[in-house]
Amino acid sequence: MLSKTTLFSPIKLGSVELANRILMAPLTRARSDAEHVPGQLIAQHYADRASAGLIITEATMVMENCCAFINEPGIYSEAQVEGWRKVTDAVHKKEGKIFLQLWHGGRACHPDLNKGIQPVAPSPIAIEDEVYTREGKKPYTTPRALELTEIPNIVNGFQQAAINAKAAGFDGVEVHGANGYLLDAFLRDSSNKRNDSYGGNIENRARLLLEVLDAVCDVWGSDKVGLRTSPLNGYNSMRDSDPLGLTLWLAERLNNYNLAYWHLMRSDFLGQQSSDVINLAREHYQGNLIGNMGYSHQEADTAIQEGQLNAVAFGVPFIANPDLVSRFENNSVLNEADPNTFYTRGPEGYNDYPKLDLSELKVS
Ligand SMILES: Cc1cc2nc3c(=O)[nH]c(=O)nc-3n(C[C@H](O)[C@H](O)[C@H](O)COP(=O)(O)O)c2cc1C
Repeated sequence: MLSKTTLFSPIKLGSVELANRILMAPLTRARSDAEHVPGQLIAQHYADRASAGLIITEATMVMENCCAFINEPGIYSEAQVEGWRKVTDAVHKKEGKIFLQLWHGGRACHPDLNKGIQPVAPSPIAIEDEVYTREGKKPYTTPRALELTEIPNIVNGFQQAAINAKAAGFDGVEVHGANGYLLDAFLRDSSNKRNDSYGGNIENRARLLLEVLDAVCDVWGSDKVGLRTSPLNGYNSMRDSDPLGLTLWLAERLNNYNLAYWHLMRSDFLGQQSSDVINLAREHYQGNLIGNMGYSHQEADTAIQEGQLNAVAFGVPFIANPDLVSRFENNSVLNEADPNTFYTRGPEGYNDYPKLDLSELKVS
């Protein structure tokens, strides 16, 4: 008899073998130092979550001066590569797998966090919100449009970061094409008003994303590269006039890549836009599809059993439950995450969520 595929079944994403299909979604936690170097606290945090089939790290700056959150990590300096090496070693010691999320914050990079430098974006349109700076909350500033001649520098930045991620011992990388940051701001039409070869139709708006993907795949081989997108997410003042058309276009185009996976966020942090991007992607995309946003254990398991998804990424549940996999296995209650400590300093709300005492679960 064929055994059914569940969240706990092993899977090969591209050339990377995972012990289960419960992935840790990328989660910015702002625990690096002022030079964007991850330290021991972060190594412990990820090692504690090594039973995830795959850890996808928090968004990590591919180059200098693209910082959107205080104390987020980078992967452009030697010290950062060394810091990440300690993280990957700690995760591998516990037989975990870990991908680095490669990221440029684009118009979310406030000058106060970037030596006074004005942020760059496809078009000079500001995010209508406020950002935390060292002097408190301030409105986002208006970015300047990237010149055509500057675009190769962005692509090279992602490529160098991919090279550095290899040196740091990662198992692969995820290109961050979601949530209104630079690549997503090019992709979606509310933030991209260019009339050159990087704006206008989808082909043009996706050009930078695909150039970055090509450059990163040249370093890693496409079977160790994932891509994250969020066609419906309104966070960071984002919107697209045709999110389903965008999803369909990407599904067909991504079939030309032998990616490890496509990581699709299915909804909107702000709850304003909704549609079924997951079924559309499943219908048209032939590679591994990872779903995320608001999945429970049960819903994720059903999606996998029915073949709608190949794996599911969990965000907030992994913040509060380092042993999420074993909690799912034992159908145990989950700890609740405390949003007040999402972006604070130190171990509180980071490395102090309790693990299950498995001995208490044994039936006597
Ligand atoms: C504190 C926090 C930090 C996040 N940081 C990132 C990030 O660095 N990169 C990213 O792509 N998504 C980030 N996200 C989004 C999560 O990866 C995920 O999409 C979101 O939490 C929804 O999934 P969930 O319902 O399983 O929590 C973040 C979310 C939270 C709550």
